[in-house]
Amino acid sequence: MPKSVEKEIEKLRELIRHHEHRYYVSDDPEISDAEFDKLMRRLQDIEREHPELVTPDSPTQRVGGKPAEEFPKVRHPKPMMSLDNTYTVEELRDFDHRVRELAGRDRIEYVAELKLDGLSMALTYQNGVLARGVTRGDGNEGEDVTANVKTIRSLPLRIEPKKLAAAADWAKRFEVRGEVIMARRAFELANVQREAAGEPRFANPRNAAAGSIRQLDSRIVAERRLDMFLYFLQVEGVEPLPEHATALETLKKLGFKVNPHWRLCRAFDDVLAFIGEWEEKRDKLEYDIDGIVVKVNDTRLWEELGATAKSPRWAIAYKYSPRQATTVVRDIRAQVGRTGTITPVADLEPVDVGGVTVSHATLHNMDEIERLGIKIRDTVLIQRAGEVIPQVVKVTRHAADGREFTMPKKCPVCGGEVHRAEGEVAYRCVNVSCPAKLKESLLHFASRRAMNIDGLGDALVDQLVDKGLVRDLADLYSLKKDELANLERMGEKSAENLLAEIEASKKNELARLLFALGIRFVGERTAEFLAGHFGSLEKLAAATEEELLEVEEVGPKIAQSILEFFREKRNRTLLEKLKKAGLQFDGKRARKAEGKLSGKQFVLTGTLAQHSRDEARRLIEEAGGRVVGSVSKKTDYVVVGADPGSKFDKARALGVKTIDEKQLLKVIEQGG
Ligand code: IVH
Repeated sequence: MPKSVEKEIEKLRELIRHHEHRYYVSDDPEISDAEFDKLMRRLQDIEREHPELVTPDSPTQRVGGKPAEEFPKVRHPKPMMSLDNTYTVEELRDFDHRVRELAGRDRIEYVAELKLDGLSMALTYQNGVLARGVTRGDGNEGEDVTANVKTIRSLPLRIEPKKLAAAADWAKRFEVRGEVIMARRAFELANVQREAAGEPRFANPRNAAAGSIRQLDSRIVAERRLDMFLYFLQVEGVEPLPEHATALETLKKLGFKVNPHWRLCRAFDDVLAFIGEWEEKRDKLEYDIDGIVVKVNDTRLWEELGATAKSPRWAIAYKYSPRQATTVVRDIRAQVGRTGTITPVADLEPVDVGGVTVSHATLHNMDEIERLGIKIRDTVLIQRAGEVIPQVVKVTRHAADGREFTMPKKCPVCGGEVHRAEGEVAYRCVNVSCPAKLKESLLHFASRRAMNIDGLGDALVDQLVDKGLVRDLADLYSLKKDELANLERMGEKSAENLLAEIEASKKNELARLLFALGIRFVGERTAEFLAGHFGSLEKLAAATEEELLEVEEVGPKIAQSILEFFREKRNRTLLEKLKKAGLQFDGKRARKAEGKLSGKQFVLTGTLAQHSRDEARRLIEEAGGRVVGSVSKKTDYVVVGADPGSKFDKARALGVKTIDEKQLLKVIEQGG
């Protein structure tokens, strides 16, 4: 083994770890996603060539190969206790009295932290390497979910040796405890995906996090974007540092994500101030909290104070009152979103929920209405979290004269057809030029990852559409300076800036434009595959279903949606206008790899034991083959893993050759 390979691997891993930390822990990336991906790919490539050099703590090993059959049960070396709850300042004062009395001190220093609404988890690090992750379970015994925990990108799989050495002797083997959470955005995303897959929504981020961590397939867990904040350090069941505040700082220094919002409170009043501040600010957080945890800072007192049967005497939780209230549903109406999704929204008798007047709540979809059994005029319990639209928790009283809601047959905004795609929960308006969609389509079109037109925000889009200056996406490119300068909150200078942004957006690559058009199911990645495959928008627009299905990751659902998009006359007119405006309709066509498998087409189905799908695809592509999304007569091989889907049946029906993972490797080696 040449030393240089080992060196390069180590250097790459160090670099990747550094950038993962900058991105996921510090939220302050130094390089672009593309540059990061490049480093990761390089490491994967070398590791594939030298499998003997792969270590479990390598950044490539976050997502496991094979789903687990079950999670082994593990006893906690020291029980994972829970906390007593308090709900009033008086109860909290009692806690402080008790602590002072038991400790025989006049004044106690506390650390106040946010009480994160997730699930607690214990992690063991051995020689700096993440060895095990165990859920709390019943406190005495939890489940070993190590493979899933490793998918949490902010969690170091290995502590930098320098940092470890700086810590102390105890750092050789220690346990950290913390909370696994799902941020609100990740939660929304997970629910959108579940809805699209016809699965029921998660009720809240905590359920979503708990459900995800117990998934047997770590590849699914990885998609859920869990996060974890650490708040506890233990060595053989004991806190090794004299102060909890120091422990939090040490955890941070070791590279862990520690929630930044904690405070060392020298006096009890500081605790109350902290609680008051976060009561106000908690909606602004990107994740849910349900209270504040107050811990004695002096950890030597922890032993002294001890614990009751289930909770320590040196810590307590102060719970915020849930932001809930009951009110009456006045009406249920259908609201149209950017993609034309029609969401039922409950109009409510206005009610104060934690200082905010709430007058409507989302009901998500028809399935949710059914689940809740909600009718107009019912009394409901509603709940608000963050700055998202409030939700209905349950019906508390059915009205005798309750009226059922039915989905309208025509779009309430434009009168277009309303359609429910097979296997989907959502109803949609199919008219692309529906004004309700237009505003959202414009915002999406202008967004950073799409055409990146800075300055085209909500307020401006509202005015442009409402004043009739923009009737479709292409109208953006014929806006005049004086039209813009006359709008509210605009002036000469901002109009000029915006026009420059719009002009610059014409140079965007085809893939961006494709993504920006907002074709259903065509995300950034698919847009790139499409642009790479067809090389021009015209070719894509003229593609048949069969041709579309040849594109990587394009299955019948995406193909159908693309066909529908280009079939619509208004969309074709729009594209003509965009072309006249000078946007890039031609892109680079992906270079076809030459190799043993040149011209061979593969389809993957089921779970492969030794390779992730991405890995298998890369192996095939490197040999010159292509992986497509669905089976046709042109397919040469269908690679079948465990639990294959309908593609396997289709392969058999069409008489396409099916092979397993082992045979695939042979085919790659010898050529098809
Ligand atoms: S310390 C001895 N700190 O709240 C118990 N817990 O109700 C130590 N939690 O099981 C827990 N944020 O899941 C602690 N900053 C925080 C927390 C926190 C959330 C959870 C944790 C615990 C539960 C107790």
